[in-house]
Amino acid sequence: MESRVKLAGHPVHPMLIVFPLGLLTTAVVFDIIYLASNATHWTLASYYMIAAGIIGGLAAAVPGAVDWWAIPRGTRAKRIGLLHGVGNVIVLVLFILSWFLRRPDPAAPPTGAIVAGLLGVVLAAFTGWLGGELVNRLGVGVDVGAHLDAPSSLTSQPATTDARSAPRASATAGGGDRRTHQQSAYAGAERRVSGSMR
Ligand code: HEM
Repeated sequence: MESRVKLAGHPVHPMLIVFPLGLLTTAVVFDIIYLASNATHWTLASYYMIAAGIIGGLAAAVPGAVDWWAIPRGTRAKRIGLLHGVGNVIVLVLFILSWFLRRPDPAAPPTGAIVAGLLGVVLAAFTGWLGGELVNRLGVGVDVGAHLDAPSSLTSQPATTDARSAPRASATAGGGDRRTHQQSAYAGAERRVSGSMR
C-alpha cells in the first residue's frame, strides 16, 4: 500500500522517525551515564536532546497519521497502525513530562524525570516493532508491485511497469527465481488489503 506523503519518491514518515528515536534514546543513555558518573554535562545534553526529540516526534507523527488514515478499515494493518500511533503519542507524552520535570534544574533532574524517559524508551521499542510490522509484514508504505528489479522511484513509472515484472509462463532456473522474489510479501499484502475491502 503506497504512502500518501512522499519525498523524492519515498515515504516521509520513515525519514523523520530517525530524529525522535535517535535523540530520545541517546538522551536516556546520557541519563544513565550521569547516574554512573554524576557529571552534569550529560544531563544538560539530555535536556536539549529531549526537546529536539519531542519536536522531531511531533513532525514525524503528521505523515504517519496521514498514511494511517488511508489504510482500509477492518484490516489488521489499521488496528496495528492505531496501536503504533497511540503508543508513540504516549511515548512523546512521557518525554514531555520528563522535560518539564527537568526544567527547574536541567543539570540535576529528579528521579521521576529519568524514570519517565526510561519508560518512554521501553515503550518505543515495542511501538517501533509495530512500525516494522506495518511496513515489512503488512506492506504499508510499500509501492504496489514493488520487486527486486523495479524502476527508480524518481521516474514517473509505477514499480510494476517494468516489463520483466510480468510472470513468465515457462520457468527456467533464473526466471523461476525472479518470479519468486517479485510475487513475495509485497504482492501478498496488496492482495490481503484489497481482499478485505470487498
Ligand atoms: C512520533 C513518533 C513515531 C515514531 C518514532 C514512529 C516510528 C515508526 C517506525 C519505526 C516505523 C517503521 C518504519 C520502517 O520500517 O520503514 C513506522 C511506520 C509507520 N508509522 Fe510510525 N511512528 C511514530 C508515529 C506515528 C503515528 C502518530 C502514526 C499514525 C497512526 C504512525 C503511523 C505509521 C504508519 C502508517 C507506518 C507505516 C509506514 C508509512 O506509512 O510510512 N506513526 N513508524
